[in-house]
Amino acid sequence: MKALSSGLLLVFQWLLGVSCVVFALTAQAQPALPVDVLHWWTSASERKAADQLGALLAANGVQWKDAAIPGGGGMAAVKVLKSRVLMGDPPDVAQLIGTTLTDWADVGLVLPLNNVAERQRWSQSLFPTVMDLVTYKDNIIAVPLGIHRINTLLYNRRLFARIGMAPPATWAQFEVAARKLRAIQVRPLAWSDEPWQMATIFESILLAETGPALYADLIVQRKSSAWMDPRVERALNRLRLLRSLSTDTPTERTWTEGARELLEDNVGMMIMGDWAKGELMAWGASPTKDFGCVVVPGTANMHLYSIDTLAMLVSPRQREATQEKMAALVSGANAQLAYNRHKGSVPVRRDVDPLTLDSCARDSWTTFASPRAARVPSLAHRMAADETVKDAVAQTLWRYLTDPGMDASEAQRRLAAVIRAPRSDR
Ligand code: GAL
Repeated sequence: MKALSSGLLLVFQWLLGVSCVVFALTAQAQPALPVDVLHWWTSASERKAADQLGALLAANGVQWKDAAIPGGGGMAAVKVLKSRVLMGDPPDVAQLIGTTLTDWADVGLVLPLNNVAERQRWSQSLFPTVMDLVTYKDNIIAVPLGIHRINTLLYNRRLFARIGMAPPATWAQFEVAARKLRAIQVRPLAWSDEPWQMATIFESILLAETGPALYADLIVQRKSSAWMDPRVERALNRLRLLRSLSTDTPTERTWTEGARELLEDNVGMMIMGDWAKGELMAWGASPTKDFGCVVVPGTANMHLYSIDTLAMLVSPRQREATQEKMAALVSGANAQLAYNRHKGSVPVRRDVDPLTLDSCARDSWTTFASPRAARVPSLAHRMAADETVKDAVAQTLWRYLTDPGMDASEAQRRLAAVIRAPRSDR
């Protein structure tokens, strides 16, 4: 990130210089220009959710100009964003999430939104965990949109009725369900060898095995020594077991393909963030008839979160007033409900009536709001570590799962090595 940071800093300084000249020459009121939004919401539910925001903005004189880059987990979108910035053409708004936000803020690319946050009393209306995430060095650096729950297990109701079981609450029940599903020629669990999807499943299993305290040492404090704990070994063994239950040949399926298999009765369960629930609903599936949603076994009363945010980027186009207007509009109570209903996530606001949410969302929101629940950040979705550490962990898990010669203790050693301690200035 260091090399990138200094490169970005130079480009950014040049951009600021150019923009001052342009602004001085034109010296006129800002015209109502479209805002160019770079994001990775391209599936049916993601599209519907983004369209809610687009429609709200249009009704208020702001035009959402879409720059959507397909690719689950934003792998491609983040690369495109970096290259656009290096080419001197940053988007006005970008889906930047978690710790990546602070990296961009450090190079001066993010427009602080302190005025919007103050006017709208975000410190009172938003969850404290959400405020912490978007606050950096006394600045508000992004607009929070929704809270996803990573430790979500979706199951096919028809198939579970056929095997005569309730959804699993323990790993022992999970294994019984898996055997029964196999007995009726159904693959127990949707699986993909995309590294980010493996990492998404792994962190839920890890939380289940370790509990929130050790999880925090491993993922938040990133204590290398903690990675040698036997509970981590158990989580890695379980991860391998889950993969062996689910796949014969290594395949990189998209997460929407996994959700499609669940809906079409080809697999019994799926462990994925609740955006998969949003997708099933966007296809017309019913959470009371077709599929159900519970937490990953062993993670009751725990919320493994990933919070989607939009950052307003400083650009030569002088869009500050429009960007602030957009920030104020999309964080409002109605926008939050409309967006999250499609996205599968839950509002970042505390002033929501949980009865207006579907049962999966209601459990997510009330757990996130509960003082007795544990909220822990997702590594796979950038809430706990930067892009480099996250990718190194995902690649290590990929190596472990695709190389039968690597055992769990070797994977532990490698994970301990790639997990670096958080930067001291955070
Ligand atoms: C996450 C993102 C979600 C969803 C998912 C699948 O990183 O927070 O909004 O889009 O990826 O692409």
